[in-house]
Amino acid sequence: MIKIAPSILSADCGRLGQEIAAMEAAGADWIHLDVMDGHFVPNITYGPWSVDVVKKACKLPVDAHLMVSDPLYYGPIFAKAGADRVTIHAEAAIHLDRAISAIREAGAMPGVALNPASSLTLLDWCLDQVDLILLMGVNPGFGGQAFIESTLSKTAALASLLESKNLSIPIEIDGGVNDRTGADLARAGATVLVSGSHLFKQPDYREGIERLRNLAAAARRERP
Ligand code: DX5
Ligand code: ZN
Repeated sequence: MIKIAPSILSADCGRLGQEIAAMEAAGADWIHLDVMDGHFVPNITYGPWSVDVVKKACKLPVDAHLMVSDPLYYGPIFAKAGADRVTIHAEAAIHLDRAISAIREAGAMPGVALNPASSLTLLDWCLDQVDLILLMGVNPGFGGQAFIESTLSKTAALASLLESKNLSIPIEIDGGVNDRTGADLARAGATVLVSGSHLFKQPDYREGIERLRNLAAAARRERP
């Protein structure tokens, strides 16, 4: 089953609660929260308070994606704030192993994210400790950017790596996801699709989520 995680970065901020509730009613699986510190990426977004905003607006799991320079400090803070999943960037974590453990100890499922040009080898020694792997389909920092096509072969390489190790960790792709790239990514092995600008510009959120999920599910069935 393909999961769809709308990124509220592209929501109408003045109506954030209603937008989140509308995505839940439309069939979203998770709410993706893009946390940016103005240091790891050139943009600033939400603090830990925002987890509560999402939790008050819906019952969906909060999928926090921390684009911050100090994941060891902020990871547990977002876990304690109530995020269900807290994903940190391998490039930012000096002590990745410790940061992953700290997130789990603080009560959330830890995930690791990689930028487009970062090697999958960064995952080699933490694969058995994470509950999610996030591959960026764009350089992090902004919604609405064009998909970087090499993410397709990277996704396929990660899927076969996990299969070879008998691990069924969700592969989440974030950035540039639309109907075409979503299907191609699912064919390559993605199981969770984050979508911001594409989904929030749909006139009917339910139709947008269903179309993306159905196209991705059909493509996934084509996998050998
Ligand atoms: C980018 C964020 C993404 C972004 C995706 O830094 O991590 O979640 O919101 O936006 P779209 O789907 O518009 O590429
Ligand atoms: Zn994200």
